[in-house]
Amino acid sequence: MWVKVLESMPKEGTLVEVTVNGKDLFVTLNNGHLYCAENRCPHEDIKLTLGCLKGNRVKCSLHGYSFDLETGDSSEEDIEHMLTYPVKQKNNEIYIEV
Ligand code: FES
Repeated sequence: MWVKVLESMPKEGTLVEVTVNGKDLFVTLNNGHLYCAENRCPHEDIKLTLGCLKGNRVKCSLHGYSFDLETGDSSEEDIEHMLTYPVKQKNNEIYIEV
């Protein structure tokens, strides 16, 4: 099911918190591409929106591990991947599939 989460495109390079069905997620626009993922580091329970973007990855503020925005792949072999969600723009509004 696609759910509207934002009324407009996020600013390039920003991490925007959204909540859908009680899930804490973030949406970001990176190099013109939209991404959505769970707003929780798979390492410890901290928001990834406290971190920053680095290339096509989001970097956690606590220990610096990073996760691919497209695939969720972790930079560390022994750390789980980040959960990602399909996201799309329609009439300038942002929808994610949950
Ligand atoms: S809590 Fe995110 S890298 Fe450790």
